[in-house]
Amino acid sequence: MCGIFGYIGDKKTAPSMVLTGLKTLEYRGYDSWGVAVVPDSADEKKVIFVKKKAGKIGAATVSDLPPGSLAFGHTRWATHGGVTDKNAHPHLDCTKMIAVIHNGIVENHETLRNELKKKGHVFVSETDTEVIAHLVEEYLKKFSVLPRDAAPAFSKAVQATFKDLDGLNAIIVINTMADEMVAARNGSPLVVGFGTGENFLASDPVALLPYTKQVHFLEDDEMVVVTRQNIHIFNAHSGERIRPKKQLLTWTAEETEKGKFPYFMLKEIHEQPGMLSEIAADSTQQASALARELQKASRIYLVGSGTSGYAARAGSYYFATVGQKITNWSSPTEMHHHIDILPKNAVMLVMSQSGETMDLLDVVKRAKEHGTRVLSLVNVVNSSLWRMSDLSLPIGAGPEKGVASTKAFTATVAQLILMAYAMNNDTKTGQKLVAQAAKATRAVLTEKNVKLIKDVAGSLKNAEHLFVVGRGISYVTVMECALKIKEISYIHAEGVSAGELKHGPLALITKSATCIVYAPNDQHHASAIANAMEMKARGAHIIGVAPTKEDVFDEYIPVPDIGEASIIPNVVVGQLLAYYLTLERGFDPDMPRNLAKSVTVK
Ligand code: F6R
Repeated sequence: MCGIFGYIGDKKTAPSMVLTGLKTLEYRGYDSWGVAVVPDSADEKKVIFVKKKAGKIGAATVSDLPPGSLAFGHTRWATHGGVTDKNAHPHLDCTKMIAVIHNGIVENHETLRNELKKKGHVFVSETDTEVIAHLVEEYLKKFSVLPRDAAPAFSKAVQATFKDLDGLNAIIVINTMADEMVAARNGSPLVVGFGTGENFLASDPVALLPYTKQVHFLEDDEMVVVTRQNIHIFNAHSGERIRPKKQLLTWTAEETEKGKFPYFMLKEIHEQPGMLSEIAADSTQQASALARELQKASRIYLVGSGTSGYAARAGSYYFATVGQKITNWSSPTEMHHHIDILPKNAVMLVMSQSGETMDLLDVVKRAKEHGTRVLSLVNVVNSSLWRMSDLSLPIGAGPEKGVASTKAFTATVAQLILMAYAMNNDTKTGQKLVAQAAKATRAVLTEKNVKLIKDVAGSLKNAEHLFVVGRGISYVTVMECALKIKEISYIHAEGVSAGELKHGPLALITKSATCIVYAPNDQHHASAIANAMEMKARGAHIIGVAPTKEDVFDEYIPVPDIGEASIIPNVVVGQLLAYYLTLERGFDPDMPRNLAKSVTVK
């Protein structure tokens, strides 16, 4: 959830490099930021200089920090302690010679804090993180007898501290005496970047792209000492040296920029037609490989969180109807209840954009302990989920920076369509459908159509509640559209199964209700129109999303009919509607309140 960027090297501009790195990670969502530098000048080197603030980085500068070639920074997503300047990271020890940044939750922070207070440590924030700085200070006193011991003693002190922390944490610590960054990971992601005469640490490889493509993803319980020239990795418990597993990042820095678009979300929405064409052209082989694995399974469990969870749910329709396989769907947090009774030969197919969602990693770990084979579809190659799974395949969406997931959803659904048809030994139809989805999505994104959706958004901007209604696989469409609307425009939107209306939700449908009804040309079309009429009879205003205009629609958004793959253009309509509603209401679609791109806490 938090963004981390650290630099050590030849350049004296480390603070501004760190700030730039943090700005690259801005999309992950945060509520405060901070940068710390060890000044180069001997006079100033006595303490670490820190600048930290609550709020967005926006146009922040760090020109008031002294120059230095060792600096790190952090964007915070509050867990312990309110959103204040004081609670922002980095945190210092009592001597102000040690600074720490942290991602995760120190579960035993209260006990540690009380012990440290008894030893005379003074705390200035309400965070769990601050205990780390004071603990390192305490261990450093114990380990460094002579000044020349400073460097080895420092990494030893960080190691001892890390071992004292309960919970899932990633930490980076610097001090004024040792020219190095010392980091350790358990649960929360950290990646080391290899440069020439300079090295890096980050929570997300995207931040490293302007500097290096050679990286090592830290595994759980790995520690690293990063100096200008060296990267020394070892096990935090045994101390055993670990050879770096160097990986090459495949994305480019340009791909991660907004380009001509005002927001990442709009850029990513518009990338979908091209992306879908590429998936249709390139992904059939990998879909067939995964389909072969799935065919061997006695039962398939599709698992994902949030938008990826809705993609998983769409997959369960395709796997049942096309793949003819009994398929269950679950969010990872609910999946825990099923793990112990998973039958032999069951397969869990997990999907995730980031590959770092803690709830998923948690359930995957348990499934593996149970002996269940875990396959995954992941957008960020080499992420934690990717590395934990028995077999991982890329979703192929390219970098997604908008907090509200868009292209990762359509890419995942496209992959699942290919897979379902491959299970049925009919890769050609799957490929044809995904190619049609690319074309249909392009049609949804024409200027004329976008203007129409924008106008509908304008008419809905003051709505307090929106009911998004659909049947069959369109039930997934409406849940995903409702999620997009609520998370960025803050309008309460509910995805309702049209078949379930009469079992409860209809009670809410009165004169002031606005209902967005999805009625693709499938076996549910007539029922969906009948449901729209029932809602209209109770005074609701009906916005229809369908291939043909129906009398019952008060407003109409056309969408091409592409049979089984219609969910893809249908969801794109919902993405645009959510985006323009958000702008109409004066909010930032890329940075919704309280949310983060990568949910690395439980
Ligand atoms: C919604 C959204 C979230 C994510 C969810 C899972 O727009 O982005 O619901 O889909 O947090 O994230 P990943 O796919 O990274 O596992």
